[in-house]
Amino acid sequence: VTTYELIFVGFGNVGRRFAALLDEKRAVLKREGIAVRVVGVVTRSHECTNRGRRVSFRGVDTVIDLIATSKAAAREGRLVLVETTTLDIARGEPATTHVRAGLAGGAHVITANKGPAAFAYHALSNAARRAGRRFLFEGAVMDGVPVFNLVRETLPAVEVSGFRGIVNTTTNYILTAMETGKAFADALAEMQATGIAEADASLDLDGWDAAAKTAALANALLDARVTPHQVEREGIAPATGRRAAEARRSNRRLKLVARAVRAGDRVTARVALEELPHDDLLASLDGPQNAIVLYTDLVGEVAIVQRGSGLTQTAYALLSDLMAIARARTDARATRRPPTTARTRRTPSPSHRRKR
Ligand SMILES: NC(=O)c1ccc[n+]([C@@H]2O[C@H](COP(=O)([O-])OP(=O)(O)OC[C@H]3O[C@@H](n4cnc5c(N)ncnc54)[C@H](OP(=O)(O)O)[C@@H]3O)[C@@H](O)[C@H]2O)c1
Repeated sequence: VTTYELIFVGFGNVGRRFAALLDEKRAVLKREGIAVRVVGVVTRSHECTNRGRRVSFRGVDTVIDLIATSKAAAREGRLVLVETTTLDIARGEPATTHVRAGLAGGAHVITANKGPAAFAYHALSNAARRAGRRFLFEGAVMDGVPVFNLVRETLPAVEVSGFRGIVNTTTNYILTAMETGKAFADALAEMQATGIAEADASLDLDGWDAAAKTAALANALLDARVTPHQVEREGIAPATGRRAAEARRSNRRLKLVARAVRAGDRVTARVALEELPHDDLLASLDGPQNAIVLYTDLVGEVAIVQRGSGLTQTAYALLSDLMAIARARTDARATRRPPTTARTRRTPSPSHRRKR
């Protein structure tokens, strides 16, 4: 069993649920040869601990100090930075700086924050490659339902030329509720009570969360270089309720649809309200359901559907990223280990013979 040392940067709804899930899945992790030890927790205003000692919060410097106290784990590829700070839509900070600091200090980084992949996917992926570490962000889009992992692990050689989808739970829930006359404010309050709505609800309502996810998907799957600010964007408001109800009466559904497409060297991306025919896959998604349809060259359209979302699913995304890191580390060590057959044990190599 290998013990991974974890540093949490951000410890709100998602961070706490992930910590609890590590405990609930301890036996499964052990079977996979994984044990975890939380060596530090950093938040802006509440708890900052380093190996059980309270420390004051000094931004990324606190993160760097924490990493420095886990030198052996960093050297051996057993240090993991868990980034779950709030989404900053202006620049994707300080999450991007945290990811960069983690990789520079020899840690793998897993995050549910969309910011780093939406603003700096290529720079961070290159930094991870140079450092021989992983930068994984499965929870950034559709929680624990695999999107990035699915393409990376199971669709080798396939080129994704575009996608469309419903990727924001809060707005889909509110749109669905308003179709049958529920008040916008009541539906939003329900999403806030579950912890699914962003801390700043305008990020969901104004389409920023969907734009950030669209940018992350476009950067990672279409090799685009876009930020959320380059995604054409629309949101929802109380007045959208009337349009949603009217569409429903005419057997159509009003949905906030995210799209991106590659045409030659150019990728265009947008988030917009669309009236969809009732038999469209995206039109069938109620309440907290999400889906993405990928357009590919070799396997046609691939649809990924999430029926219900929540904190456990987001926490599971972090767990699956952690397990991907552990499996890759185990595989790499097995490949490096020389075979121990009777022949290799008995016969010294030519260089051995020369030394003697
Ligand atoms: N909630 C979901 O269902 C969900 C789903 C998918 C992805 N996500 C993403 O996951 C991330 C976390 O979401 P959440 O619901 O857990 O948010 P949250 O409950 O608001 O927690 C955010 C945490 O980040 C800390 N934080 C904020 N700014 C910081 C900074 N500059 N330095 C250090 N710590 C900082 C906060 O510390 P203080 O409390 O001390 O201020 C808090 O511990 C977000 O990026 C969100 O977009 C969330």
